[in-house]
Amino acid sequence: MADVVYTGNLPEGVERELKVLYSARSLCLRETGTQSFIDNLGSARAIVVIPGDPIDKTFIDALPDSVGLIASYSTGIDHIDVLAAQKKGIAVSNTPDVLTDATADIAILLALGAARGAGDGERLVRSGQWAGWNPNQIFGVDLNKKIFAIFGFGRIGQATAKRALAFGMEVIYHARSEKTLGNKINARYVGDFDEFLAQADVLSLHAPSTPETRHLVNKGSIEKMKDGVIIVNTARGELVDDDALLSALDSRKVRAVGLDVFNNEPKLDPRYIDAPHTFLLPHIGSSTIETRQAMGRKVMDNLAAFFENKPLPDSVY
Ligand code: DGY
Repeated sequence: MADVVYTGNLPEGVERELKVLYSARSLCLRETGTQSFIDNLGSARAIVVIPGDPIDKTFIDALPDSVGLIASYSTGIDHIDVLAAQKKGIAVSNTPDVLTDATADIAILLALGAARGAGDGERLVRSGQWAGWNPNQIFGVDLNKKIFAIFGFGRIGQATAKRALAFGMEVIYHARSEKTLGNKINARYVGDFDEFLAQADVLSLHAPSTPETRHLVNKGSIEKMKDGVIIVNTARGELVDDDALLSALDSRKVRAVGLDVFNNEPKLDPRYIDAPHTFLLPHIGSSTIETRQAMGRKVMDNLAAFFENKPLPDSVY
């Protein structure tokens, strides 16, 4: 009997271990829908979920009492109604810490890709229309000496700051409060949000999706930014109002964007697909072999603790 059900494809090694240790079986929630998923859950005690699975109140309320743990194969938990789980006495865990460097690398890749027109360049080469070296072709901008503005200064924001400093950028950040960094990271706190926006040459988003951060990048906030600002998002698509961003891209108020995350993934706003000055990736911030294995390790540690009635190492509440 399967003690564990997982909702999506996980890396092979992780699936193998889940099967060996817990006779785990796969039940793809996105294909089954909630009702059929619940009907086929059997007596599973833990469910391993992935970002984008709709683990909302309806789903959680419908879960049988046998389920005691929702273990997310992710750091972000915006796809889970944690309060509903807590009310029902279901523990929730995630995979913090292990994807910090991989995601910070992608933030810098996006910043460089947007600043240098890498998306346009790639499209040109693939189109077969490239007519050879041309002094007027795809002008980028330097990142060196520019102000790299980090919204949300947790682990990933700080790791991104270190990389941005290595590229010769000046780093500022905005967060709920100033962090005690000592001389570890040379980053300046700008507590006033409008002032922070006004100083940014590159704005990089590193905050979770919450009601407070939803559509943080909107018409009003973009107006407060410099002309030609670059916007990078490795956090969650919900932080951005697509209408506002696309219109600012069109007018070149925003020079370029680098996006790894989108509203309604994978059905992103189709206007991004053909828009110039966009460097787009399919939510691969944590996608390195090493990081995905480490995330699997975290899931296994949380499952082990749950089945041994020990405190979860990564409980989210
Ligand atoms: C996470 O863990 O939240 C990431 O977005 C998945 O790559």
